[in-house]
Amino acid sequence: MTPYLDDGDITLYHGDSIDVLRTLPAGIAQTCVTSPPYWGLRDYGTGGGQMGLEQTPDEYVTNMVALFREVRRVLRDDGTLWLNLGDAFADKQMQGMPWRVAFALQQDGWYLRSDIIWSKPNPMPESVTDRPTKSHEYVFLLSKGPRYFYDADAIREDVTGNTHSRGTKKSPPKSLVHDDSGMKVKNNRSFMEATWDAVTARNRRSVWTIPTEPFPEAHFATYPQALVTPCILAGSRPGDLCLDPFVGSGTTCLVARKHGRRCIGIDLNADYLNIAARRTQQLSLLGGTPEPVATLDRPRGLTGGAYNPPGQTPHSNARTSDHRRKQ
Ligand SMILES: C[S@@+](CC[C@H](N)C(=O)[O-])C[C@H]1O[C@@H](n2cnc3c(N)ncnc32)[C@H](O)[C@@H]1O
Repeated sequence: MTPYLDDGDITLYHGDSIDVLRTLPAGIAQTCVTSPPYWGLRDYGTGGGQMGLEQTPDEYVTNMVALFREVRRVLRDDGTLWLNLGDAFADKQMQGMPWRVAFALQQDGWYLRSDIIWSKPNPMPESVTDRPTKSHEYVFLLSKGPRYFYDADAIREDVTGNTHSRGTKKSPPKSLVHDDSGMKVKNNRSFMEATWDAVTARNRRSVWTIPTEPFPEAHFATYPQALVTPCILAGSRPGDLCLDPFVGSGTTCLVARKHGRRCIGIDLNADYLNIAARRTQQLSLLGGTPEPVATLDRPRGLTGGAYNPPGQTPHSNARTSDHRRKQ
């Protein structure tokens, strides 16, 4: 299948993600980080084939399982899926959609490894007075097999709760190189570093507090780069291939590129792919990738919509449906 854009590191495809995935070879991607359309929330304006507009939760779950079966085929055997999902209400009832999907994926052969709570300090205001305001979503970590690549060190967090990744830790304080008598002890770097790290950093915990990040160009919910970063860092090594079958404005590809990973993104909406193309190509022009990328004259193989060169704003025809309000 001809990509919408391919610069050697970032490849974007325009189309229904299940159809595009079927054309990709098995076992090429190390990790998939994605946020599919939530059930019943929004019409992305691309007509049939869109996910999230199914009549019933069961239909949605069935479609999600089929889609992620194809993702599993494209993943390496030690690959992972980081799946961001939020819930929906219908007829006053919370639907529990994230867990329905998670259990269905488990049933389909995935290993469900973690339910990360994305806690939002700046949630969407809700006019409800008969339940707490919803201020979290889920990121499920699932793996293709029982053993998988996971770089825990890359996403250790400091004990005060401020997260940091490898390479950013501070030096041990000077006082640690003196013993109680005031005499200097041997400053053994590796010992000092290990001890210091044990004192100041711990394994990443499962509640991530990350503000939503408005991205005015996209008239729909993009997820924040800070949510994607730990998934990319723990789920892949530099040079690895990442995947997002619902790439939207390209956040996953952008974060992957920033950290020296390659990325395949797929979306049904060509307007969003324009944004994704511009965001990822601007970064490469700014030298935001550690590896040289091929010069992009124009994206190859436009299959709908048109690539707008930097500076032009594409329009979006997304709209929010009313039926989730005030539930
Ligand atoms: C929640 S948005 C993803 C936003 C993205 N994470 C970002 O940060 O911009 C979901 C995306 O799925 C796309 N989509 C819906 N159904 C699709 C399908 N069947 N195949 C490919 N993309 C689809 C929509 O066009 C939309 O861009």
